[in-house]
Amino acid sequence: MSKSRNTIPVSQKPGALSPSSANILVTGGAGFIGSNFIRYLFEKTDFQGTLVNYDKLTYAGNLLNLSDIDEKFGGKSYFFVRGDIRDYEKLKDVFARYHISAVVHFAAESHVDRSIFGPKDFIETNVNGTFTLLEASRQFWGNRRDVRFHHISTDEVYGSLGDTGYFYETTPYDPRSPYSASKAASDHIVRAYFHTYGLPVTISNCSNNYGPYHFPEKLIPLIILNAIEGKPLPVYGDGKNVRDWLYVEDHCEAVWFILNKARTGETFNVGGECEKQNIEVVREICDILEELHPLKDNPAARKQAPHITRYSDLITFVTDRPGHDRRYAINCDKIKKELGWKQKYDFENGLRNTVSWYLHNKKWVEGVRSGEYIKWIETNYHIREK
Ligand code: NAD
Ligand code: TYD
Repeated sequence: MSKSRNTIPVSQKPGALSPSSANILVTGGAGFIGSNFIRYLFEKTDFQGTLVNYDKLTYAGNLLNLSDIDEKFGGKSYFFVRGDIRDYEKLKDVFARYHISAVVHFAAESHVDRSIFGPKDFIETNVNGTFTLLEASRQFWGNRRDVRFHHISTDEVYGSLGDTGYFYETTPYDPRSPYSASKAASDHIVRAYFHTYGLPVTISNCSNNYGPYHFPEKLIPLIILNAIEGKPLPVYGDGKNVRDWLYVEDHCEAVWFILNKARTGETFNVGGECEKQNIEVVREICDILEELHPLKDNPAARKQAPHITRYSDLITFVTDRPGHDRRYAINCDKIKKELGWKQKYDFENGLRNTVSWYLHNKKWVEGVRSGEYIKWIETNYHIREK
């Protein structure tokens, strides 16, 4: 393989950006990973700067994710601005008003199945939105080098693996869903701004995250909540597709390490080094639930599914996702060796924390399962009934 089209040949020395005292614009901070990142910054780091959470509040954005942070820091060092990353004028205003010196860009349409039903929003937000945000950053910062634009991307841009092999930072891009294609396009534009304009960027490509505040359209929270309610546990295809799972707090820490230590122009793969077939994940969730919330003590599930004796009896194989990527597996040696990052959570502990969080946060769950959510569940799973 040639040296790589994804590696940026020129690296700058670490700029003078001091993330702990920066004025950080977090886009998509009301979503799953963005809200965990904001909480991580305020609770687990020495961050003393100002943080502006800029989010459109689509179906996936939820201010309940951060109500405690807002209570403690709101109006002092934490600010929320409702806005679209395609709105150049609004971004310009936010950059100027809050003297933004770093952007951490999470905002995206993020669900593969939705991208299959309706790709337009994915191109609009992930491609055009990222372009607009880059342009606002470039215009506001000019030639400053003591600033940073960190772009959050995904391992899905690399395509699908067979039974062996890993994704490296040098793996050629080969996206196969409208979601991954839109993320790949945005990665390319971010790199173009580095090469062409010298914008101080960094990029991370991360594997599947899981943990608290995960919107229950994605595999892990969907399975936990369906099981608790005695509903079928839908497994696409043969259940043997493999994902590499990373606890969300580990991802947040990786981003913080990159902001603090990485040279600009660099890309880092971030992964859990934890490959699991989907069916294994679903069975592990059922096992943990048997322990934390035994079926015999769950009258709601027993009423909904009187025929079952274990949660795993609810597993239902359904029609596969079109173009379903078979296997993702990340090699993250670079961030480990160069920046000293490593995962703190193994899958068993991370999954246990996650199941427990959903059992103890019923109010949050009720809040996110609105009319729009029910509409999506009907759309996605009705066509999959065998
Ligand atoms: P999410 O869907 O939970 O949250 C996305 C957030 O972006 C929401 O708060 C939404 O309101 C906001 N948003 C959407 N369109 C917007 C727009 N036009 N303007 C402003 N805000 C907008 O997503 P997530 O799972 O937290 O993912 C965050 C980022 O991480 C995404 O860029 C995603 O591609 C990437 N990523 C996610 C995973 C994962 O497993 N979830 C893995 C690797 C990378
Ligand atoms: P998902 O959480 O949607 O993340 P991604 O598609 O970005 O990897 O899906 C994770 C895996 O689980 C993927 O292989 C698809 C599969 N899956 C199911 O089997 N059933 C489901 O109901 C969902 C939502 C996903």
